[in-house]
Amino acid sequence: MAQTAIKSPNDVVDFLVSQHEQIKSLFATAIAASGAAREHAFLDLRRLLAVHETAEEEIVHPRAKRKIRNGDIVVDTRLKEEREAKTVLQKLEKLDVDSEEFTRELKGLRDAVVDHATHEERDEFAKLGEQLDNDELETMGRAAKLAEAVAPTRPHAGVESQAANLVAGPFVAMLDRARDAIAGKG
Ligand SMILES: [Fe+2]
Ligand SMILES: [Fe+2]
Repeated sequence: MAQTAIKSPNDVVDFLVSQHEQIKSLFATAIAASGAAREHAFLDLRRLLAVHETAEEEIVHPRAKRKIRNGDIVVDTRLKEEREAKTVLQKLEKLDVDSEEFTRELKGLRDAVVDHATHEERDEFAKLGEQLDNDELETMGRAAKLAEAVAPTRPHAGVESQAANLVAGPFVAMLDRARDAIAGKG
């Protein structure tokens, strides 16, 4: 069984759980910052959320729906939470990052996303890990990593502003690009 075997670096569950930790840390950075630094952290956060949630929606949720007990209910609840987070992100994108409303909404989103991640890890990923063998978990992990094409490592000085513009579009556009990357069109 998968849970007793040695984990692979490409294991989809390990990969997504490590992204959960990065997401939590970017929320903390964005909440603590202000002005341009907050703008920057919020952009990094949206990019990572786009990459992460798209990988889950395209690769993990459909599989979990079929494989785990009560998969329909578990996955539909997670999808509903993901849709709610998208709505809040679209609202945040229209606000001044230094406004009180932004700070309040960002903290609310953090609480919702942390709760969502806890449910995924406990109710979905752990159970999926028990149902699938290592090869399947690795294949899914490699596919999930393709979405990262949307979130390149920070560009070199000089091309920063141009590259930042390319990836600074609205959250929904980031989701589209992450989906294309997974589908091999990125
Ligand atoms: Fe999710
Ligand atoms: Fe997640």
